[in-house]
Amino acid sequence: MNELSPIFLPGNGTSRCLECQVIQSPLAGVSDQIFRKLVRRWAPKALLFTEMVNAKSLELGHGEEKVNELAEEIGPIGVQLFDHRPDSMIDAAIKAELSGAFLIDINMGCPVKKISKKGGGSALLKEPELAQLIVKKVSKAISIPVTVKIRLGWCETTSNPVSFALGLQDAGAQLITVHGRTRKQGFSGYANWEAISKIKKSLDIPIIANGDIKNARDAINCLETTNADGVMIGRASMGAPWLIGQINEELKNKKTFKPPDAKMKVSLSLEHLKLLVSKKGNHGLLIARKHMNWTCRGFQGSSALRHNLVRAKNPKDAIKLLEDELIKLN
Ligand SMILES: Cc1cc2nc3c(=O)[nH]c(=O)nc-3n(C[C@H](O)[C@H](O)[C@H](O)COP(=O)(O)O)c2cc1C
Repeated sequence: MNELSPIFLPGNGTSRCLECQVIQSPLAGVSDQIFRKLVRRWAPKALLFTEMVNAKSLELGHGEEKVNELAEEIGPIGVQLFDHRPDSMIDAAIKAELSGAFLIDINMGCPVKKISKKGGGSALLKEPELAQLIVKKVSKAISIPVTVKIRLGWCETTSNPVSFALGLQDAGAQLITVHGRTRKQGFSGYANWEAISKIKKSLDIPIIANGDIKNARDAINCLETTNADGVMIGRASMGAPWLIGQINEELKNKKTFKPPDAKMKVSLSLEHLKLLVSKKGNHGLLIARKHMNWTCRGFQGSSALRHNLVRAKNPKDAIKLLEDELIKLN
C-alpha cells in the first residue's frame, strides 16, 4: 500500500487539508452531533459529516438545527446536501458555509425512493448534465471546497462511472467519494473496488473509496486495490465510534489498537444515552436504543443486557440497567 498523504483541497478561495485519510460516512439517523462527538474522541482530525440535509428545506428555513450545531464542532465537519434544484443547493450551501462547514458534499448516491423519486440523491446518476450543473453552480457560489459522494451508477447496464466522475471533476468537484455499488444493488452483493480503481486511474482529484470496509485489514486491501487517497467507513462504525480512530491508528502508525472491552462498551453506552437524554428528553431513549443495541455486543451477558435495554420504559430504567451492568463488570 502506498503511503497515505494529507489531502489538499484548494476550494474557491478557502482551501482545506484533510490530515486523516480515514473518513466517517454520513449516516442518516446515526451521525448526529452526539455520535460525532464520540467519534472525535478517537479521531480528532478525521473528516466527519452531518446526516444529509435537505437543501430545499434549508432554503425555506427548516431543518436548520443540523447546520446551526456546526459552531460547536471541534474538528472538520462536512455538510452533506441533497436535492436536484441548483438554486436550492446554492442557497443551502451558502447557509452551511456561513454556519462553519469545513466543506460541502453533494449526495448523488442515496437510494431511498422518497428522495430519488423527486430527482435527488442517486437519481442524479441518471442526469449527468444536471449533476454537473449543480456542482458548477455550488462551487462558484461558495469559497470552501465542494465534494460529491456517488455510487457506481443507477444500474450496471446503463452506467459509466468513469465518465460520470470525469464530468463532476470538470464541473469543479474537488474530491469524489465512491460507494462501489450501483443504486440498483442497494446494499446487496459486494462493493466493487476494481470499479473504484478505474475511476481513480482516470481522474486527477482525490478519490475516497467506500463500501464494505469493516477493519484495518479491509482498509489496506481496499487501498491496495483502488489506489484511492483515503477510505470512508459507514455501517461498521455504527455502535463503534472508536472505529475511525482505530483504523487510522493501525494504518498510519502500524500500532495495534486495543478494542474496547465490555466495561468500556457499557460505559460508552451509558454516556451516549445520558447525552441524548439531556439533549432530547425522553425521545433521547428512542434514539439511544439502536446505538446501545449495536455497542453492547460481544461480551458475556450482552445479549440479556440488550434484551432488557430495548424494553426499558424510560431513561431512568435504562440508565439503571447500564449502571448495574457496570457494577457486575467491576
Ligand atoms: C443507516 C445508514 C444511513 C446512511 N445515510 C447516508 C447519508 O445520509 N448520506 C450518504 O451519502 N450515504 C448514506 N449512507 C450510505 C453510507 O454512507 C455508505 O456509503 C454505505 O453504507 C457503504 O459504506 P459501508 O459499507 O462502509 O457501510 C447511509 C447508510 C446507512 C446504512
